[in-house]
Amino acid sequence: MRTAIEPFRIKTVEPIRLTTRAERERALRAAGNNVFRLRAEDVMIDLLTDSGTNAMSAKQWSAMMDGDESYAGSRSFYRFRDVVQELTGYKHVIPTHQGRAAERILFTTAVQPGDVVLNNIHFDTTRANVEHVGGEARDLVIAEAWLPSYVHPFKGNMNLDALEAVLHAEGERVSLVMVTVTNNSGGGQPVSLEKLRGVRAICDRYGKPLFLGACRFAENAWFIKQREAPDRTPKEIAQEMFRLADGCTMSAKKDGLANIGGFVAMNDDALAEKCRNLLILTEGFPTYGGLAGYDLEAIARGLEEVVDEHYLADRVGSVAFLADRLVERGVPIVQPPGGHAVYVDAAALLPHIEPLEFPGIALVSALYVEAGVRACEIGSVMFGGDGRAAGMELVRLAIPRRVYTRSHLAYVAEAFGEIDAGALSGYRIVNAPKVLRHFTAELENIAAVTRLS
Ligand code: F0G
Repeated sequence: MRTAIEPFRIKTVEPIRLTTRAERERALRAAGNNVFRLRAEDVMIDLLTDSGTNAMSAKQWSAMMDGDESYAGSRSFYRFRDVVQELTGYKHVIPTHQGRAAERILFTTAVQPGDVVLNNIHFDTTRANVEHVGGEARDLVIAEAWLPSYVHPFKGNMNLDALEAVLHAEGERVSLVMVTVTNNSGGGQPVSLEKLRGVRAICDRYGKPLFLGACRFAENAWFIKQREAPDRTPKEIAQEMFRLADGCTMSAKKDGLANIGGFVAMNDDALAEKCRNLLILTEGFPTYGGLAGYDLEAIARGLEEVVDEHYLADRVGSVAFLADRLVERGVPIVQPPGGHAVYVDAAALLPHIEPLEFPGIALVSALYVEAGVRACEIGSVMFGGDGRAAGMELVRLAIPRRVYTRSHLAYVAEAFGEIDAGALSGYRIVNAPKVLRHFTAELENIAAVTRLS
């Protein structure tokens, strides 16, 4: 059979409010041309993020009913801990309310001011948490990662020569090495087992701890199965990935198939003790870490479901489905497509809009007005500032897990066909905070303002 079917049937539905173009124009204007400021009800297909937007299974919901809400020593914690330990092999499992809380606890504990943290590419909250404690976050991804159209099976790999060189030259400043799987900021691209083993060997040579940024570990394992280790199951691959590292931070809002939650896990007893002490101060007692007992149940079950081969084939396959439809229409995308999202190269699609007039915002706005699709600019609004442009002008179409069918995705691809790219024009920021401005900035369309004046 050639038609791929979603390996689930739908038991609960949530209606999508169908809106008109005029309604969407009004809503976007009222939101200061920033889709983060829209009411979600005014969005028809929401591809802003794959984080916390997962649909849970009947088994997860039923496990939640059985959650133990005890303050200390909850049965749900032990179930959660056992699942995480079986998967990762780590001795200490510390729940947190989401991924960035796990990062804050780890970096506050393990990084001193002036230290360097190395990563393939730091995700923005990861970088912010390293910098918040006075550390320096340095990205060492392979050069191919920065070329949107260049096809490479493991574009998330770390440059091992660069890693070795930094550790050789200034190793005493490096407190830990991290590898983000998949590499979200580089297009959701996977890291190979071979190179992960290489990173491990180098860390051993220099006596440095290695952590995984593990949010999308299962999608990474699926790519390894497709491209490197076909004879192994995704779970076996994931187990090896975790065991090559000394610990991980995890946002269960991604491959935990949950709506909230995360954890930090590790083998080091002394580090774990410090992390738990900080956890009690800001997140909660170590057997709940800011989560309800039912959240721990949802994550435990989610981590079991996420390594299912049929689930992963559909998950990564649906992202490829959208990518193929876009390529058919001549839309330039980051190649190959990632595990959780398709990244459109807005600079290539809209070459007439200067980076500092935000081609990504022009595309995101047009997608919303034409079709009610919400995407996310990953370009000069998010990563620029002080008159600087970002390295790439991308628009991310992140696919929530188990939420949209292939007909929703076909509709998204069709929306690109409705956009008259040559007629789009740039934007400027009229109001923005100093940090993380993309969330709340207000923008105006330069051509519209010129027409009015
Ligand atoms: N690490 C990576 C690689 C991430 O993609 C994220 C979140 C985090 C850490 C932080 O986790 O949100 O649970 O605190 N990424 C989301 C996204 C927000 O849209 O890509 P969190």
